Amino acid sequence: MKHLLSIEKMAPEDLEWILAETTNMKASRGRSQDLPLTGQTWAMIFTKSSTRTRVSFEVGIRELGGWVMFLSKNDIQMGRGEPIEDTARVLGRMVHGAVIRTFAQKDVEDFAQYSNIPTINALTDAEHPCQILTDLFTIQEKLGTYRNKIVTFVGDGACNVPASWIFAAAKLGFEFRIAAPKEFQPLLSLLERAGFNHVQSQSGAKGEIIRANLPSTGARIVLTPDCVDAATGADVLYTDTLVSMGKEAEAAGRIEALKDYQINANLLKVAQPAAIVMHCLPAYRGKEIDAETFEAHADTIFDQAENRLHTQKTILKWLVS
Ligand code: CP
Ligand code: NVA
Repeated sequence: MKHLLSIEKMAPEDLEWILAETTNMKASRGRSQDLPLTGQTWAMIFTKSSTRTRVSFEVGIRELGGWVMFLSKNDIQMGRGEPIEDTARVLGRMVHGAVIRTFAQKDVEDFAQYSNIPTINALTDAEHPCQILTDLFTIQEKLGTYRNKIVTFVGDGACNVPASWIFAAAKLGFEFRIAAPKEFQPLLSLLERAGFNHVQSQSGAKGEIIRANLPSTGARIVLTPDCVDAATGADVLYTDTLVSMGKEAEAAGRIEALKDYQINANLLKVAQPAAIVMHCLPAYRGKEIDAETFEAHADTIFDQAENRLHTQKTILKWLVS
C-alpha cells in the first residue's frame, strides 16, 4: 500500500519517477488511454480552504477514469467530533483512495493507517508535498533541471511549504536558501531530521547565518535574515503567503515582522539574470511579492499552478501502480 504523506518519508527514486513521468502526463493530456483509476471512487476530505489543490485533484481523478466526492469538514461527522480513526475505518471500506487537507500531520498519517487505502497529504501544517513536487517539475520544465540550482525562499520560512522544500533539497541535492527573520526560520531539528549533519553558524551583517550541507547528495541549506544575500545568484526566487491557514489571528504581527521580506525588483537585480519567480498561490500583492514583479512573472506562476493538475495525476498513477 503506497501513500504520499510527506516529502520527508518519500524515497528519492519515487520523487524522481514522479518528476520524470509528469512530463509524459502533461504531454498526453486529452489523448491518453491510460485510465488507472477506472472503477474507483476517491474521497477528498478538506478542513481548510483550497482552490488549486481541490480543483486539480477533482479534475485529475476524473481524467484518470475515477469518480470523486468532496467532503468538507462540515459535511461529515468529523466536524461534530467523530474521530479521524473512525472516519478512516468507514471510508476505507467504501472508497479506493483519499486526499486530505487538514491541520495536524498526525491526522493524515492516522487516516492512512486506519483506512488502509492510498492516502495523499493535500497540505498539513507540517508539509505540502504535492506543491513541492509540482514546483520541482516546473523548475525542470523552465530551467532544464533542478539539480545544482539555487532556490531562494523569501518570507515565512517556518511554514509547511519551506519545510517540504528542505526535505526535497536533502533527497535530490540542490541548494535551498531561506531569507527570514530568526523567528520565521525552521527549527534546526528539522534540518537534522532531513539528514543535514554538518550545521554551522556564523554572524553576518544582519544577524546569524546558518549553513548546512549533506555531502551524500550535495544538498545545501542557508538560513539567513538577509534577503539580498539569500537572493544573490539564485536561479529561483520563491514565496508563499505570510499568513498561512490557521494563523489568521497573527496576521497583523506577521505582516509587520515580515514587511522587509518581499520578492521585488531589488532582489531580482542580484539573482541570476535568467532567474524565475515562483509562488505557490494564493498571492497577496504588496506583502510577500510586489504587484509589478508578480505580473512580470505571471506566466511562470500560472504555469506552476497549471502543473498542479499534471503532477497530481502522476501522483495518483504512482499510488495505484
Ligand atoms: N497552492 C495551493 O495549495 O493552493 P490552494 O490552497 O488553492 O489549494
Ligand atoms: N503556507 C500556506 C500554503 C498555501 C497553499 C498555508 O498553509 O496556508
